[in-house]
Amino acid sequence: MIRETTDAPLVRHNSFHVEETAARLIEFDRAEDLDAIFGRGRPEMWYALGGGNNILFTHRFEGTLIKPAATGIEVICEDADTVTIRVEAATEWDDMVAWCVERELWGAENLSLIPGTVGAAPVQNIGAYGAEAAGIIYRVHIYDTQRREHMTLGNADCRFAYRDSIFKRELRGRTVITSVEMRLGKRPAPNLAYGDLIAQVEERGDVTLHNIRDAVCAIRRSKLPDTDILGNAGSFFKNPIVNRAAGERLRAEDPSCPVYPAADPAKCKLAAGWLIDRAGLKGYRAGRVGVHERQALVLVNFGGATGGEVIALARHVQDVVRGRFGVEIEPEVNIL
Ligand code: EPU
Repeated sequence: MIRETTDAPLVRHNSFHVEETAARLIEFDRAEDLDAIFGRGRPEMWYALGGGNNILFTHRFEGTLIKPAATGIEVICEDADTVTIRVEAATEWDDMVAWCVERELWGAENLSLIPGTVGAAPVQNIGAYGAEAAGIIYRVHIYDTQRREHMTLGNADCRFAYRDSIFKRELRGRTVITSVEMRLGKRPAPNLAYGDLIAQVEERGDVTLHNIRDAVCAIRRSKLPDTDILGNAGSFFKNPIVNRAAGERLRAEDPSCPVYPAADPAKCKLAAGWLIDRAGLKGYRAGRVGVHERQALVLVNFGGATGGEVIALARHVQDVVRGRFGVEIEPEVNIL
């Protein structure tokens, strides 16, 4: 079924709780509905919306927001070591993680409690605690609006990288993700190297899927604001990837500066949260918006803020970090 709303209020559709509107919002249940939606030519301006957890509306959206509504998880194949599931795009990511943990399936547990839908996860290759969605995504079912065709991409076709994929590059503005296949493991494969995760798990007893999920949820709850209470979109900035020399310079100035390896050995990844924190902006407030007091990577709407106010704050944070460290930090959030 296809449901269409004109002048749609977006406050329910974005975790920043910004009160903007869209000229048109189309919600659809079945992948085939997209044939009808795009059949008579593409809507002039459109954007595929998931749970609205990684988006900032800065003005009225004059085009059409296309939003999948179907939820559900089904097992599509199983062998001695793995189970492959197909998950509908509008399924809450964390419902899928909980489903896997209940069935003793490994691979999704470090990604517990990440807000958002399964259909949005491949776009920015969501990640946390040393794991990324790319590690379990097997295939992605999409509708290509240019070719007006339903297609399936394998994991390698998606060109996943740190908070990046083909959906943010060559296929940007061209596809709607309708469902995702994930391949989970039946054998224990704990991934506890990140930060103090291992200590948090051991505090709870054995290294079980339940204890890992519980520990990840507890760490996230202690650092990240609940979007139901305080509007935000998780990390507002990506961790910057810089030349190794720049990382070494910062480390020499302050040995507590976190420097992680990057995919390219000539580069390294810095912690944007640390840079913002050390630049003195953690807990900084400008009217109705601010930098979260427990995690400097997160910008928050204290209530009633416009997207423009969030952007002004983001620019200020970028300027201060550039001035203090000479490092450019880029938004992770999609800005419309
Ligand atoms: N740090 C500070 N001050 C802060 C925040 C962080 O000094 O205010 C330091 C921490 O002490 C640590 C380092 O910076 O040494 C990294 O911090 P953390 O481990 O909290 O992770 P992160 O780099 O800030 C990334 C993801 C998060 C994910 C966490 C946990 C990005 C942009 N963000 O944050 O993802 O939950 O790792 O794995 O990669 C999201 O994308 O919305 C998100 C929350």
